[in-house]
Amino acid sequence: MKNDLLLRALARQPTDSTPVWLMRQAGRYLPEYNATRAKAGSFLKLAKTPALAAEVALQPLTRFPLDAAILFSDILTVPDAMGLGLYFAEGEGPRFERPLRDEAAIARLAAPDPTVELRYVLDAVRETRSALGDRVPLIGFSGSPYTLACYMIEGSGSSDWRAVKEMLYARPDLLHRILAVNALAVTDYLNAQIEAGAQVVMLFDTWGGNLTAVQYEEFSLSYMRQVLSQVRKVPRIVFTKGGGGWLENIAASGCDAVGLDWTVDPSAARQRVGAKVALQGNLDPAVLCAPPSRVREEVRRVLDAFGTAPGHIFNLGHGITPHARVDAVEALIDEVRTYSRQLRAARV
Ligand code: CP3
Repeated sequence: MKNDLLLRALARQPTDSTPVWLMRQAGRYLPEYNATRAKAGSFLKLAKTPALAAEVALQPLTRFPLDAAILFSDILTVPDAMGLGLYFAEGEGPRFERPLRDEAAIARLAAPDPTVELRYVLDAVRETRSALGDRVPLIGFSGSPYTLACYMIEGSGSSDWRAVKEMLYARPDLLHRILAVNALAVTDYLNAQIEAGAQVVMLFDTWGGNLTAVQYEEFSLSYMRQVLSQVRKVPRIVFTKGGGGWLENIAASGCDAVGLDWTVDPSAARQRVGAKVALQGNLDPAVLCAPPSRVREEVRRVLDAFGTAPGHIFNLGHGITPHARVDAVEALIDEVRTYSRQLRAARV
C-alpha cells in the first residue's frame, strides 16, 4: 500500500500527518459526479452499474489528495435485496414500495445471498479496487441493523420515526425479529465485500441516536456487536450519529475506531475511551458552505482538540451535503495535511 496513513491510524500507530477522508466524498457537490449520474440516468442506475460506481468512487481522489476511497453504493441496497423495492422520489430521498408493517411480511423476511442479490455491489468493490491499485485503502460499508430497520419499517426517512417507535413499544418482538435478520444480512454482506477487496469496513448507525440509552444497547449496539464478532478481521469503524453519550460502550463493541458527530468534544471523547480505539471525525459539515479561510480555521480547531496522540482519522461529523463548496473541501484537505504536520513538528 503506497499510502497507509488510514491503516496506521486505525491501528493507533504514529503517522506523519493525520489521515483524511470524508463521508459521502463522492456526491452531488462535485460537478463530475452530476455528469456521470446524468449519464447513468439516476442514482440507483449509477449505483447498480459497477463501472460507473467505480468511476464516481475515484472522482474525489482525482481531485483531492484523500487518504481513503469508499465504495460507491448506498446502505439501502440490503433491504432492496430483501424485496422491499427501493426507489428515489425526485427531491424526496429514499423510499420503499413495500415497507414492513405486518407480522406476516416480517415473518417472511430473510437475509439475501450477497453473491447473488447484491452481486453488483461486489462487482463495484472489485472494479474500484482494480482502478485504485495500491494507492489508498478501500472502505466497504453497511448500514447498522437498527438504521436499516428504521427505513424498512417507516418506508422512508422521518423526523420522528413514529412507525418504528410504535413497533418498539407495542411489539418489540417484531422489531427484534427484523434486527436478527438484518444482523445476519449485514454480516454476510460485509464479509462478501471484504472477500471482493474491501480493506476496512464501516457501520453507519445514522439513527441509533433516536433511542434512549437503555434502548440503544438493546436494539442497536447489541446487534452491531454481533455483526462485528462475525466479520472477518479487517479494521472496522462504527459511527452512531447522536451516540456521544455512549462512547465507552461503542468503543468496547469490537470496533477499531469510533466515529464522532460534530456535537462531541474530541478531547473529552479521548479521555473517556482511552487509547483502546481510534477516533474519527468530527468537523461540522455545514462549515463547507463557508469561505475557505473559515474552513481552515475550523479544521485547526478540530485538530487541536484531538491532539497529536496516534489514532485520529479526520472526517466530517456526518456526510457532506450537496451544498458544500468545492473550494472549501479543497481547503479542508490541504489544511489537515499541513497543520497536522506542523503540530507534530512542534511537539518534538
Ligand atoms: O461516502 C460515500 O461517498 C459513499 C457513498 C454513500 C452513499 N450513501 C451515496 C449516496 C454512503 C456511505 C451512503 C450511506 C447512507 N445512505 C446513509 C448512512 C450515512 C448517512 O449519511 O447518514 C444513509 C442514511 C443513506 C440513505 C440515503 N441515501 C439517503 C437519506 C439519501 C438521500 C440523500 C439526499 O440528499 O437526497 C441517499 C441517496 C444517496 N446515497 C446519494 C448518494 C451520493 C445522493 C443521491 C443522488 O445522487 O441523487
